[in-house]
Amino acid sequence: MRIFLDTADIDEIREVARWGILSGVTTNPTLMSKTSGKSHEAVIEEIASIVDGPISAETVSLEADGMLEEGRRFAKWHPNVVVKVPSTPAGWEAVSRFKKEGIRCNVTLCFSANQALFAALAGAYIISPFVGRLDDISEDGMQVVRDTVEIYRQHKLETLVLAASIRHPLHIIDAAKAGADIATVPFKVLEAAAKHPLTDKGLDLFLKDWQKFQASLKEAVPA
Ligand code: G3P
Repeated sequence: MRIFLDTADIDEIREVARWGILSGVTTNPTLMSKTSGKSHEAVIEEIASIVDGPISAETVSLEADGMLEEGRRFAKWHPNVVVKVPSTPAGWEAVSRFKKEGIRCNVTLCFSANQALFAALAGAYIISPFVGRLDDISEDGMQVVRDTVEIYRQHKLETLVLAASIRHPLHIIDAAKAGADIATVPFKVLEAAAKHPLTDKGLDLFLKDWQKFQASLKEAVPA
């Protein structure tokens, strides 16, 4: 399973890119609203200059023609741009028309395996089931990921399953176990998943013991 960052924050992207584990980035209007001063195009181009992988940029039109107009513009910004459209009939229409033009789509706001099936049939490159938002309303968000992976495997559908709306480190593990191709993870969750108190404690002990060892060498009488 590949890891994408779910952010438009350039500093966060630069940091995780240095870890050597980052394969792509997803953005959306909410994440864009947290950036300041730069145009949509400038932010996406800057991300693409840092990460060599799919960069999702989201449309805001509700009709397919509008999504097409926005997405064609986004696709000119960088070859790695993937156009995000919603899980609606208009979104699937846009996906099928984008496909004929060679433009890849990430179908977002997916909350059911039926929506995931329809996105794949329309020709989506990526489907994004939202795990956390389903958990928030007492549904099992990860079950949509499991069902989608099973359906795609059973019917040999090539759309990549991207677990989105990831809220905590266990979601990453569960998405990987469910067979998701990608998890898109907010920086804070990735940071929490990267840390373990026993790693920090162990490092501290090793450093102290190494200093003891060095001191003992200095004290030792040469033979
Ligand atoms: O990429 C969109 C998705 O990950 C949103 O997550 O936390 O706003 O539900 P969240």
